[in-house]
Amino acid sequence: MEMAIVLGFAIAVFIFFLFKLLTPSKSKKNLLPEPWRIPIIGHMHHLIGTIPHRGVTELARKYGPLMHLQLGEVSTIVVSSPRWAKEILTTYDITFADRPETLTGEIVAYHNTDIVLAPYGEYWRQLRKLCTLELLNTKKVKSFQSLREEECWSVVNEIKASGSGKPINLSKCISTLIARIISRAAFGKGIKDESAFRELVRETVKLTGGFDVADIFPSKKFLHHLTGKRAKLTKIHNELDNVIENIISDHTVSRLSSSQESLLDVLLRHKDDTEFPLTSDNVKAVIFDMFGAGTDTSSTIIEWAMSELIRSPRAMNKLKAKLREAGKGKERIEEEDIQDLMYLKNVVKETMRLHPPIPLLMPRECRDPCVINGYHIASKTKLLVNVFAINRDPEYWKDPESFIPERFDNSPINIMGSEYEYLPFGGGRRKCPGATMGLANVELPLANLLYYFNWKLPNDVSHDELDMTELFGAAVQRKTELVLVPMFQDIVDRSG
Ligand code: HEM
Repeated sequence: MEMAIVLGFAIAVFIFFLFKLLTPSKSKKNLLPEPWRIPIIGHMHHLIGTIPHRGVTELARKYGPLMHLQLGEVSTIVVSSPRWAKEILTTYDITFADRPETLTGEIVAYHNTDIVLAPYGEYWRQLRKLCTLELLNTKKVKSFQSLREEECWSVVNEIKASGSGKPINLSKCISTLIARIISRAAFGKGIKDESAFRELVRETVKLTGGFDVADIFPSKKFLHHLTGKRAKLTKIHNELDNVIENIISDHTVSRLSSSQESLLDVLLRHKDDTEFPLTSDNVKAVIFDMFGAGTDTSSTIIEWAMSELIRSPRAMNKLKAKLREAGKGKERIEEEDIQDLMYLKNVVKETMRLHPPIPLLMPRECRDPCVINGYHIASKTKLLVNVFAINRDPEYWKDPESFIPERFDNSPINIMGSEYEYLPFGGGRRKCPGATMGLANVELPLANLLYYFNWKLPNDVSHDELDMTELFGAAVQRKTELVLVPMFQDIVDRSG
């Protein structure tokens, strides 16, 4: 009898565990798919040694377009298909309109008081509106046409002065050019510490990949000290603050009419404003943002476009021919000459499809718990929109890995796809407010480089041997700088 009771009990326990094993618990059923995890670091080991957007894309291929990753302490969802990007950036846009707090934001971006990292709310809204009104809208961008043309012309002459047939560091040329354009447009004139500013922004960006120890263990403050990240960021911040202080002190208050004021004039005026007063740190945070968000994004696209064109002589020759036809042998090309040049625009779009400078967008954070497709998402969950995978989704793009600018012929896509299949500027409330300026700063420089010069790789290296390895940061750049040989071509029509 006793034996029967023990046996009965054992069977009951066995059935209970079997039942538990076979029936997914209610909470498990409502969790997003995820890879296998290990204690403390969660899924980080899947990303170690990978370039983050590529590592995340590999995982998404196995676990689906809506996937959960536990990155240390940070619960993260990754969206990797146009369908889910559309759903989240429309229906749940406001739920995910916050940015997660980061050590970089706290130390470098003046306690998250810039636009990029500011929490969603009135301050962010007002600041974004102000920058759009004073710098980034279509009319303002158009008003900077002559300064773009002047700066491009200077670079053309610098390249000519360096000598035909001699290799030049094109990466450096391009980033200097974009930095000059942005500084003059936003601050009214070039800045003397421009190359230091660029270097410091790059240093910041390098420390802001989002997958290092400080970012995945935000509450473990001792790790921020132990890894040296806090000290490094503080050093960068102090140097950046100096550079920005210099920009402000060099700035002579504009006596121009309000329509000719620079963004910096307007920001400084807001220091005494009663409706939307800005502190000195707020002004500095915006200066940091405009330079930081506006330079490497554009210069990196020009670098990738030149790299793709070098690898595709067919597209390169086609674009050069179209440009020279549009320029009609003029000595100096102007924006009017290229404004209807669809092939140039298509080359830029195709470059941004394959090389979105911010391939996981800027991380967002869930403000309130929500349920997406039956999955429970807790507040404070981080959101990564995997634009890299979306822009290459084979359901939407034929031959997605190849550089084919013609795919945009007769396409209505401008800065984003209606089905969210093309998102180099992001989407929803947090999408890039600088798209018009960014595109203008890419198209004219690229047109200039190809109108006046023919290009080849140094040392007779074949075009298909160009190294295309990426370097992950807030903007994904080439790992190696682009060194090319310009060959001058006399395109000037002297017949008339
Ligand atoms: C072609 C060049 C550019 C590209 C590809 C680009 C791309 C992006 C992307 C992907 C984001 C994040 C969007 C999101 O999280 O959903 C962003 C945000 C932002 N960009 Fe750009 N950008 C470019 C040029 C510029 C320029 C020229 C400026 C200003 C001078 C600028 C200012 C900003 C700002 C302020 C944000 C933060 C928006 C917010 O959080 O509300 N960008 N950009």
